[in-house]
Amino acid sequence: MAEGRLRGQPMRFPTRTQVAIIGAGPAGLLLGQMLHKAGIDAVILEQRSADYVLGRIRAGVIEQTTAALLDRASVGARMRAEGLVHHGFSLCVDGERQRIDLSRLTGGKIVTVYGQTEITRDLMQARAEAGLVTVYEAENVTPLHFDTAKPILRFEANGATHELACEVIAGCDGFHGICRASVPPSAISLYEKIYPFGWLGLLADVPPVDHELIYVRHPRGFALCSMRSKTRSRYYLQCDLNDSAANWSDEAFWAELRRRLDPAAAAALTTGPSLEKSIAPLRSFVAEPLRFGRLFLAGDAAHIVPPTGAKGLNLAASDVHYLLEALTGFFRTGQDAALAHYSPRALARIWKAERFSWWFTSLMHRFDGAESAFDERLRGAELAYLMQSEAAQASLAENYVGLAF
Ligand code: APR
Ligand code: PHB
Repeated sequence: MAEGRLRGQPMRFPTRTQVAIIGAGPAGLLLGQMLHKAGIDAVILEQRSADYVLGRIRAGVIEQTTAALLDRASVGARMRAEGLVHHGFSLCVDGERQRIDLSRLTGGKIVTVYGQTEITRDLMQARAEAGLVTVYEAENVTPLHFDTAKPILRFEANGATHELACEVIAGCDGFHGICRASVPPSAISLYEKIYPFGWLGLLADVPPVDHELIYVRHPRGFALCSMRSKTRSRYYLQCDLNDSAANWSDEAFWAELRRRLDPAAAAALTTGPSLEKSIAPLRSFVAEPLRFGRLFLAGDAAHIVPPTGAKGLNLAASDVHYLLEALTGFFRTGQDAALAHYSPRALARIWKAERFSWWFTSLMHRFDGAESAFDERLRGAELAYLMQSEAAQASLAENYVGLAF
C-alpha cells in the first residue's frame, strides 16, 4: 500500500525522484532514511505489502557499527531501549562449553540482540512520520536505461502502468529481485556455494536457555540457541535439505535440541508451543561488480551469507554506508566519478564477511560424507585449536563483532 492510501486518500504516484530504490527490506529502508537525512530525495517501490515485509523472521545480532549507523539514521532509539547488549557467546563442541568473551577479546566491543523485523518496523515508522513515499504492492517493476544518465523505473500499481524518472536506481530488492536479473549476463560475475543442509528454526515465547547465544557443534548436527528478548527464544537445528517443517512436531524439535546441548543447558531448557517453524537453505553468494552505470546493487541483491554468525543484515548496512557516501558525493559534485568507489569498497568488506560466514558454517556443521576423511580430521583439529587458543578466539571475536567499515 502507498503512504497516501494509508491515510485513506487516493495515491498519486510519483513521476520523478533523485534515487529510485527497489525493495523495502532493511537495505532499501535504511538507504531511504539515510538519503532523507542527507537531503536527497528517494522513492521506494516494493512488490509486497508492508505487513508481508514485517512478517518475515530473520536473524537479530547487530554489530556495533550497524547499531551506530541506525543511531545516525535516527532510528536507533527502540533498539537501544529494548535490544539486549551481549558481551559474549558460547561455543559448545561435543558437549564441552567455551565462552567467547567478545568484549575482552576485542577491546570492549559488544553486539546487540534485536530482531531484524523490529529494525524494519522502526525504519518504516520513521519513513511514514517523515511523509516519505513508499509504493507497496508495486508490480512488474522494471529498471530501464540505467546505462544512461536518465534511468527510468516502469511499474504497475492500482491497475495502471507508471514511470518514475530518476538519476540513480538502488537495487535493494533481495536475492530474487529484478535488478541483478536486468543486467546483461556478460557484465556480471556470480560466485556461489550451496551447503548440503538447512536450518530448521523455531520461535517460542519461552525464556532463553542462557543469557547469551550458544552455537552448538554435535555429532548429530549443528544447533543454535538464540533469542529475541528475555521472554522469546529462537532456536535452530541443522536438518536435511529435503526435510519439511511439517515433519517436526514441537516435541520432536525440543527433544532433538536437548540431545545436542551439553547437560547443563539441556537441564535448563524451557520448552513451549512454537509460534513459527520453518526450514531455510544455506547459501554463500556474491555478485560482482555492484555498479552498472546508474544501477547499484546493495544487500541480499548483491550477496548472501549462510546465517552462522548473523552477518546478512550487517552487510546490508555496510553496503548502505558505502552507497550513501557515493551518492552524497555524486549529488554534491554532479560528477559520475564519485560513484566509482562504491563497488570495490563494498566488495572488499563483503568478501571478508563471506569468508567468516563460510568458515564458521564449515566448522560447526556436520557434512555427512560430503567431505573427505582428511578434511574431517582437519576440522576436528581446528575446533580443538579454537577451543584452546586465545589467539584463535580473538580472531573469531573480531569477525563476530564486525570488521570496521
Ligand atoms: N520489485 C519490488 N520489490 C521487490 C522485487 C521487485 N521485483 N523483488 C524483491 N523485492 C522486495 C522484496 O519483497 C523485499 O521486501 O525487495 C525486498 C528485499 O528485502 P530483503 O530480502 O530483506 O533484502 P535486504 O533489504 O537486502 O536485507 C538484507 O535481510 O534477507 C535478510 O539476511 C538478509 O539480513 C539480511 C537482510
Ligand atoms: C537469530 O537469532 O535468528 C540468529 C542469531 C545468530 C545467528 C543466526 C541467527 O548466527
